[in-house]
Amino acid sequence: MTAPLRRSALVSALAVTTAVVVGGCKPSRPYPLDTLAPTSDLTKAFYDLFVEVTVLDIIVLIVVVAALFLAIAFFSTRTGAARRPSVKHSDMYLEMAWTIIPALILLAITVPTVRTIIKTQPYSWPKDALPVEVIAHQWWWEFHYPTLGVETADEVHIPTGRVIHFELFSKDVIHSFFMPQVGGKRDVIPGQENQITLVANVPGEYYGQCTEFCGDSHANMRFRVFVQSPADFQEWVKHQLEPPVKPTSGPAAAGAKVFANAPCAICHTIRGVSGFSKQYTYGFRGPDLTHFGSRTTLAGAIMDNTPQNVAVWIRNPDEVKPGANMPTLGLSGRELNELVAYLEALK
Ligand code: CUA
Repeated sequence: MTAPLRRSALVSALAVTTAVVVGGCKPSRPYPLDTLAPTSDLTKAFYDLFVEVTVLDIIVLIVVVAALFLAIAFFSTRTGAARRPSVKHSDMYLEMAWTIIPALILLAITVPTVRTIIKTQPYSWPKDALPVEVIAHQWWWEFHYPTLGVETADEVHIPTGRVIHFELFSKDVIHSFFMPQVGGKRDVIPGQENQITLVANVPGEYYGQCTEFCGDSHANMRFRVFVQSPADFQEWVKHQLEPPVKPTSGPAAAGAKVFANAPCAICHTIRGVSGFSKQYTYGFRGPDLTHFGSRTTLAGAIMDNTPQNVAVWIRNPDEVKPGANMPTLGLSGRELNELVAYLEALK
């Protein structure tokens, strides 16, 4: 390579590296599954450990690389004849040093790690803690608030400043409940109850995702976490406890009939309308739809809750979420539109 060519290659490499580094430091779009943006006491503990260990790693890296370059500079010669270091059979002080220093480094990592493990275990929660049962299904999330009588799916609401006690159950296979910014990750195992306790600090909408391979639509098993001020949370609970809207005219009223006649009611509860899920069961059930229209997403939070998306989902669930238990109903275009209108009216 000629000198100008070499220089231009070097300049290009530098430009690319700078772009990558700057691009990495300054995200131009939000990263919804960012694990380095803690918003609760639990994720803050994980984050602090990560920073502590990373700082230590960087110090070790700097020392090792500096020693390497010093050795290169000191022991290399321009003539090619190696400068021979003095030969010794053993050196007790040197051997003690390279045993004790790594041991101290490991200790420096072990202490904060064990401290964080202990700190992030589900702790004994105070009386006013809010229990939330999380039930994993292939491929959606069911949320129960046993003390409030609220039931919802794929979207969990929690208040700030209060201990939340998640109790994790699975109806079928092993899943993993992962909400990186709010609550870290814990496996959801059939026949076993796992727990997460946390106090959320920052109101907002956060993303969650199943992170244990659980079948065809594992990637389509997402959810949202809505962290709200205590007042907003109370408002949400109040609304969830209200009976469902009963449309009396228009396509929504016709859609209520479609819902009752199609097999929807076998798997889906709408409080006061269909409780068939309690009597008939295919061995599985679908999300409670009492306030479906008030949710922002559907089908495992993979789509925004819009009439178009609801229609796409109902027309052919298997195309949207391969392997889903939701059957194709074979509705006419009109029936489909009426059913969508009814579901969206369930605010
Ligand atoms: Cu559930 Cu992956």
